[in-house]
Amino acid sequence: MQKWDKNRPVTAVIVGCGHRSMIYASYAKEHPDQLKIVGAADPSEKALRQAAEEYDIKSERLFASAQALAAVPPFADVVINGTMDQQHVQTSLPLLRAGYDMLLEKPFAVTADEARELLDCARQNGNRVMVCHVLRYAHFYQAIKKRLLAGEIGKIITIVSNEYVSYDHMVTSYVRGKWAKFENCHSSMLLAKCSHDIDILTWLLGTDHPRSVCSFGSRSLFRAENAPKEAGSRCTLDCPLVDRCPYSAKRIYLDRPGAWDGYVWKDFGCKRPDSMAVMLESLSTDNPYGRCVFRCDNDVVDRQSVLIEFQSGAIGSHNMIGGAAGGGRTIHITGTAGEIYGSFEQQKLHIKHIHPTPDSLFDEEVLDFSDEDLSGHGGGDARLMEDLIRFVRGEETSVSCTGLADSMPGHMTVFMADKSRLAGGAPQKIALGDAINTY
Ligand SMILES: NC(=O)c1ccc[n+]([C@@H]2O[C@H](COP(=O)([O-])OP(=O)(O)OC[C@H]3O[C@@H](n4cnc5c(N)ncnc54)[C@H](O)[C@@H]3O)[C@@H](O)[C@H]2O)c1
Repeated sequence: MQKWDKNRPVTAVIVGCGHRSMIYASYAKEHPDQLKIVGAADPSEKALRQAAEEYDIKSERLFASAQALAAVPPFADVVINGTMDQQHVQTSLPLLRAGYDMLLEKPFAVTADEARELLDCARQNGNRVMVCHVLRYAHFYQAIKKRLLAGEIGKIITIVSNEYVSYDHMVTSYVRGKWAKFENCHSSMLLAKCSHDIDILTWLLGTDHPRSVCSFGSRSLFRAENAPKEAGSRCTLDCPLVDRCPYSAKRIYLDRPGAWDGYVWKDFGCKRPDSMAVMLESLSTDNPYGRCVFRCDNDVVDRQSVLIEFQSGAIGSHNMIGGAAGGGRTIHITGTAGEIYGSFEQQKLHIKHIHPTPDSLFDEEVLDFSDEDLSGHGGGDARLMEDLIRFVRGEETSVSCTGLADSMPGHMTVFMADKSRLAGGAPQKIALGDAINTY
């Protein structure tokens, strides 16, 4: 561990100057005493220029790729790697070999082999890698973890979680967008959307590791055969249902100012063009977000259920439900001494302790986080950055800090769940080997 001069900020290079990295990097603006962005790498000149302008980065510290950055001697304490899912390992390996510590977006790998390769590389080169499991930092989940660690509900019997993906989110990200097609993003829907949720399950179970998993799922709704007879190919071009279809690009992206701008208007610098004519032209011609949701090239599932058996015999389950009216997450943990359950959207947790009295079987406590700062994953984005600073400085981190090895149980569970889904639900063993205990 390097000696740390507390009077200077942690220095970071942004790798992949896209949506997520720029959110993390913005911590430097709010806390210049803690974080300074000193370099950037991205093949997109536009993204690189934007990062350089925002953080006043010298031209000699701008690079056309992670690989080009790795070719020069390291000049920062940490890399913030926010490239896309399938690029995480290929961009991280050279940077780890060059000696950088790293904040790495999830999923940190897209296959089990890749995950092991990255872990081995970090272990061999002595790098410290923190994975962006931002939900672990939300007050809601952190409170659950602390109560479980305190043994408040005894030994876990079952843990049940649900993620409802709202219909506009579903069609934007997983039907028309970046995570719609396995070939493009190399992530299944479970890996892209629910690696957080499965991570939460395995994190809450702690040293009780998952040992087998089975899963069912399908793409049943967003298929050509479900298109209304009169549907066109593009909502604003040739579809008579443009003002009636709930998935209409006009209704979701034009009629609701600000909705999904960062995705839909990526070619316009992630900002909604001022001119309606320009937007209509884009959605009617080459903008992927203008396509009919029943006539896209999507192949990821729109629903999936996962059942996990843990070493202790505890059972975990997670349902991903795509296309719900509203998005949301719920969790319900049953232990031998009580229960914890709640809705992330309502930001309320109910904690029941088994306590027989003549009047009642249990007592109940309600925790309400709705007055907390909940921006960015229930407050998770900013709190993760606070922990990153401690992580890089070698200070004590929070209970939510996720090293690579710590992220392995969740990732391996997702990989095996998808294997099971493709095998019609056949149970799969989860082999964690020595990875989780030795790094
Ligand atoms: N933690 C979370 O809650 C959360 C939320 C959303 C997305 N994500 C994850 O964050 C990651 C980034 O998503 P995004 O929406 O910000 O993506 P993005 O497309 O906005 O940004 C990715 C950037 O990487 C750049 N890039 C491509 N190849 C590169 C290379 N070789 N070297 C350097 N840069 C390169 C691209 O040009 C692009 O600018 C994804 O893995 C996604 O799954 C995480």
